[in-house]
Amino acid sequence: MFRLVPVLAALAVAAALPASATGESAAIAYKLHCTGCHLDSGAGNPEVGRIPPFPGLAGHFLKHPKGRLFLSKVPGMVNAGLPADETAAVLNYVLEHYGAKDTPEHWEPFTKEEVERNWSTKVDDISALRGEISADLAKQGIDLRY
Ligand code: HEC
Repeated sequence: MFRLVPVLAALAVAAALPASATGESAAIAYKLHCTGCHLDSGAGNPEVGRIPPFPGLAGHFLKHPKGRLFLSKVPGMVNAGLPADETAAVLNYVLEHYGAKDTPEHWEPFTKEEVERNWSTKVDDISALRGEISADLAKQGIDLRY
């Protein structure tokens, strides 16, 4: 029995780690909840519909003051039903894996607390919010159309 104790202790430590601390779990969550529409490549599945490609777009949202709110509230993200910490991890995964070329040089990863804050911020019309961000960034020469 005593030989089991260290194993159990290690498992307890692993379970206590926030999901956002591990890229692995974010990659799995992306596969399970996002690839159907966004594909492994992040390019968007044309068979599902007009899906915005992540490369060339997603990272730019971090250049707008409301971009992080938008990313936290996109319907696919919210409908996945993931808890806030996993949502933060998946968003960071998307930005690191598909958006890295377009993110500002320095950006703060999403945290559970920020996602919770963003979720509790009311957004009347998510498409209108994207339109507003898109119009503002267009003035900087950034094109968010797809
Ligand atoms: C049922 C299909 C579907 C699923 C599943 C889905 N999405 Fe989406 N996603 C869309 C569509 C369609 C849009 C564009 C329209 C919109 O904003 O709703 C979009 C937009 C986005 C955007 C904004 C991109 C932009 O340029 O506006 C992000 C970020 C995003 N999704 C992330 C995710 C993540 C992360 C997951 C998995 C947790 C996910 N989505 C699951 C269909 C989906």
